Amino acid sequence: MKVGIVGGAGRVGSTVCYTLVLMRQADEVYLLDRDSRRAEGEAMDVMHTLSAVGSDAEVRGGSEYGELEGSDLVIVTAGAPRKPGMSRLELRGINREIVGEIAAKVAEHAPESMLFIVTNPVDVLTYHAWRASGFPRERVFGLGTYLDTVRLRSILRKELGVGYGEEAYIFGEHGDSMFPVFRLSREYPEGRLMQVYEEVRTSAMKVISSKGGTWFAPALAIAKVVEALAKGGRCTLSTYLEEHGLYLGYLAEVSMRGVRRAEFELTEEERRMLQRSAEVVGRAIEG
Ligand code: NAI
Repeated sequence: MKVGIVGGAGRVGSTVCYTLVLMRQADEVYLLDRDSRRAEGEAMDVMHTLSAVGSDAEVRGGSEYGELEGSDLVIVTAGAPRKPGMSRLELRGINREIVGEIAAKVAEHAPESMLFIVTNPVDVLTYHAWRASGFPRERVFGLGTYLDTVRLRSILRKELGVGYGEEAYIFGEHGDSMFPVFRLSREYPEGRLMQVYEEVRTSAMKVISSKGGTWFAPALAIAKVVEALAKGGRCTLSTYLEEHGLYLGYLAEVSMRGVRRAEFELTEEERRMLQRSAEVVGRAIEG
């Protein structure tokens, strides 16, 4: 698979490149960044791992959109990250323009690619990227609540011994209105499950407050989505939801043919919470 990463010199973008190469999920990666020197440096650093990985992948960096030609997938991590105390929605003013311009350029240079948005606020920016690219809905998607789902499962395992294969998800906005969806095969105390969910909801800000950002867990989550694209799979991604007319974290069927909402029944309470997330994201799209 040929993968372009726009914002590739940043912390998330460069770690995605490293993770994809380690997981042998890409044959070719181009790190595109406005800081072309750093993009070249990050690419070289990753290139130097290849003999140890036993890979023949080609990794390059620079600022040339023409290099994205023929990409199967373009991942967008460009833009400002959150600072301690900031909500994801506060980034929309800065990042909307950046991601809109990038989506239009990707559509021009890699018109057959899939467009995978990571920059926050991810659900809002996935919508703008879809509009700016002119791509069909199923070829544009965002990381959505997949990282939150990965975090939830990691903490559930540690705190309650829940199996990794169990159905525990986070749906909705990748932000304050997200909500947990449990379909576990045995009973756990409701209060403990909600405690774990609360820990997940606030966990990103704890990491940001202590180390200035999050990149290992995001990069691994992104690489797992790339693996699902190649092999087929299901992940909670920012997926276009017809009845709301926007993108929100929902279980999706993932393949190189596109990302589409999976058949998955929500309870009435969960549908109400999805509606709340849709209202938050809808206001942010218009605002
Ligand atoms: P960073 O500041 O380390 O990297 C951002 C990169 O984007 C920089 O290298 C910068 O030069 C580049 N950039 C900025 N504008 C550009 C443009 N117009 N064209 C090309 N390159 C451009 O930030 P970091 O930590 O990598 O985070 C990136 C984004 O990812 C943030 O918006 C952050 O909130 C988001 N994020 C989203 C997650 C999710 O679950 N959706 C998880 C973690 C981060």
